[in-house]
Amino acid sequence: MKLLITGGAGFIGSNFIRYYLEKHPEDQVVNIDKLTYAGHLSSTKDFSGNTNYKFIKGDIVSPNDAEEAMEGVDIVVHFAAESHVDRSVLDPLEFVKTNVLGTGQLLQTALKKKTKRFHHVSTDEVFGSLGPNDPPFNENTKYEPRTPYSASKAGSDHLVRAYFETYGLPVTITNCANNFGPFHEPEKLFPRFITNLLEDKKVPLMGKGENIREWLYVRDHAGAIDLVLQKGVIGETYCVGGESKTNLEATKLLLKFLGKDESYIEYVPDRLGHDFRYAIDDSKLQQLGWEPEHTFEEWLEKTVRWYKENEWWWKPLKDNTQNLDRSAQESMKY
Ligand SMILES: NC(=O)c1ccc[n+]([C@@H]2O[C@H](COP(=O)([O-])OP(=O)(O)OC[C@H]3O[C@@H](n4cnc5c(N)ncnc54)[C@H](O)[C@@H]3O)[C@@H](O)[C@H]2O)c1
Repeated sequence: MKLLITGGAGFIGSNFIRYYLEKHPEDQVVNIDKLTYAGHLSSTKDFSGNTNYKFIKGDIVSPNDAEEAMEGVDIVVHFAAESHVDRSVLDPLEFVKTNVLGTGQLLQTALKKKTKRFHHVSTDEVFGSLGPNDPPFNENTKYEPRTPYSASKAGSDHLVRAYFETYGLPVTITNCANNFGPFHEPEKLFPRFITNLLEDKKVPLMGKGENIREWLYVRDHAGAIDLVLQKGVIGETYCVGGESKTNLEATKLLLKFLGKDESYIEYVPDRLGHDFRYAIDDSKLQQLGWEPEHTFEEWLEKTVRWYKENEWWWKPLKDNTQNLDRSAQESMKY
């Protein structure tokens, strides 16, 4: 099998390639990535010399780049996106371009190349925000995106389904909870907090830290996608959940792992349109045989250790965070 991974120099894409090359050493992997502020060849360093791996610097929005990357490919796993909610508040059209137009371009090319499978990686944020007692999201939940990021991802999900219904393109979709783990951009919530604490700085927690998220270790997300590639039904969507925590609970754990007290929390004003709660019912995926292997607390601690030991990776990227801070005049989101 030859796989095309889009956005494989980003957080989840690079972790997925690492996982996939280990589990399927006989397969070939091509990675197309534009190397935006969020794409780093340093995240692919440990597998870039693998003879079954090839990197193409390219833009999924470009028909030529998409065609070149999809040459002889059996399966596309599509991660490439603008993914930071805060940035989507500042520059929404960039999100429409990459997430909607870029996905459309890949679908069109997949159709032309008669690709055997197009797997689209999406988020639970397309479903909107839950109240404290609402039932969790599942595959039948109505789409109610509330930010430019989630709206552009919702648009891409709809396009993927439309290519299945209209043209019969063999697609699958996963909508996953928040991920955490190594190689996560330092402007995102956990890496931001971990690296701040490693630098003996405070962590900016929005509102009262009451917002609730589900968290999944990134390698479990990779396992879920692999399972859907092997056993998923064409045309179907699978939700992928995690462990539920308030942001304050997660922050207190990070403080504990890094030996800091609560004076290191700086409460900052809430984000515009901040979704209150996400929760996922992933029983459909469990019926395919999925079970996460990594528990939240244990793997959050291991993630903290990874950041302690891999300053070479995150230190040069911290500047982006400061630039974004200046332009946003507010603190980080997730
Ligand atoms: N991070 C999460 O918690 C989470 C949860 C659920 C779903 N997702 C989805 O998973 C996917 C990957 O998320 P991530 O956190 O790894 O994102 P990321 O921002 O870390 O990585 C995105 C990658 O896509 C690349 N890219 C951006 N625009 C491109 C373009 N036009 N052409 C080619 N490459 C381009 C970037 O250079 C980067 O390497 C996204 O589609 C996101 O919506 C993320």
